[in-house]
Amino acid sequence: MTGAVETPLPSTADGSRSRDLLAQVVVRCMECGRRDDGTASRTSCANCGGLLDVVVPLDRQVTPDDLGKDLPETARHSGVWRYWPLLPHLPGDAIVSRWEGNTALYRDDRLARYAGLTDGSLQLKHEGQNPTGSFKDRGMTVGVSHAKAIGARIVACASTGNTSASLASYAAAAGMASLVLVPATKIATGKLAQTVAYGATVVQIDGDFDRALALLRELTAAYDVYLVNSVNPFRLEGQKTIIFEMLEQRGWEAPDWITLPGGNLGNTAAFGKAIAELHQVGLIDRMPRLAVIQAEGAAPFAAYHASGFEEYEPVEADTVATAIKIGDPASTPRARRSIEVTNGWVTTVSDAEILDAKAAIDRAGIGCEPASAASLAGLRRLTREGVVRPDESAVALLTGNILKDPDAVTAYHFDDIDGEPRPGANRPIRVAAELSALERVLSDALHG
Ligand code: F0G
Repeated sequence: MTGAVETPLPSTADGSRSRDLLAQVVVRCMECGRRDDGTASRTSCANCGGLLDVVVPLDRQVTPDDLGKDLPETARHSGVWRYWPLLPHLPGDAIVSRWEGNTALYRDDRLARYAGLTDGSLQLKHEGQNPTGSFKDRGMTVGVSHAKAIGARIVACASTGNTSASLASYAAAAGMASLVLVPATKIATGKLAQTVAYGATVVQIDGDFDRALALLRELTAAYDVYLVNSVNPFRLEGQKTIIFEMLEQRGWEAPDWITLPGGNLGNTAAFGKAIAELHQVGLIDRMPRLAVIQAEGAAPFAAYHASGFEEYEPVEADTVATAIKIGDPASTPRARRSIEVTNGWVTTVSDAEILDAKAAIDRAGIGCEPASAASLAGLRRLTREGVVRPDESAVALLTGNILKDPDAVTAYHFDDIDGEPRPGANRPIRVAAELSALERVLSDALHG
């Protein structure tokens, strides 16, 4: 199965302009090098089944002044399309934007100390501030715009919840139908609620994410359905801009490390490509190292890395961080390339480490969903193991908003573990509706 379905392009005057622009977009197989243009919906090589990359022209210098210029009107407010010189040039009238990107880069010294770094050495890039509350919106604006440009009528994904929420929103913006496959259990309430509310057709399957994705790839190979999982090379082009924006916010000064959670490994794939491209066009002169953090119960990529990238084995995934409960990441070969290009690292953290790091991020007033906290938990582990030195600088990626998974918050703070509250558990205090009771609470709050 090739994953290639030819979708007829719109036959209007605009459609022929779309065709001209899409014909200039180059998509290349990372395994055999076969090249195609951007006129079809394709997520694997027609020749060998390999993963695909969009090729952007890198044979020239790009300066900071080139950014944000000559944008199509539809892309004017987007923190993704601002990096136009390093993105595929899709037709302006096809661009579907929800003003994604433009997210904060926080400095927090309490969390730097938590991670084992010196003050001033840690920043957190909060992708939970995107329109639907996760980094997925950055890829989705490019994926759904490409779908619209080629005239797709229905867009689809398998998801642990965030991709589906994002897809449902962007499909609604584009006026397209959307179909999502999610595991019947273990998807966070906020994500399911968004996906349903934005109007996607939601299919809950009796199986995990890996099964859902395999099933959907069969469907999209046989039918005219546009697949927007991160196997889609256009999705990754949008996700590159997390790196672009973070480095622009740092004045193009690379940190020593970037830590990120690894699930289906789309971000890992996109980040390596982004870093290599920035280096090639001269926007950075030094490459940051990527450190990918997986949950212990869902860590096939960490095991692959530990074997010197010799032995790869999918696993049956299990972790409290449902977003990254993935046992057979679709972007593994591209993610391997990212680790090799950036001299990166891969490690694991336990569910307890993830939840404690999340509580620390939440308590700093920043907040994130469980999977995001793997970035900080992993950094703490790497400083303890001596892989990262305390005087090195790091940016930890926070991938999703705290409100995505409120049940994870209440379980942490309200439920005991082994008969004891978790560290830092913060339980509401119930009192009689009387001033005297409130005075006692105030006194305790002030004096500990
Ligand atoms: N963090 C969050 C909050 C996520 O939703 C995901 C992936 C990841 C990290 C992992 O990113 O796949 O690029 O390695 N969520 C997908 C979804 C699988 O369906 O929402 P990755």
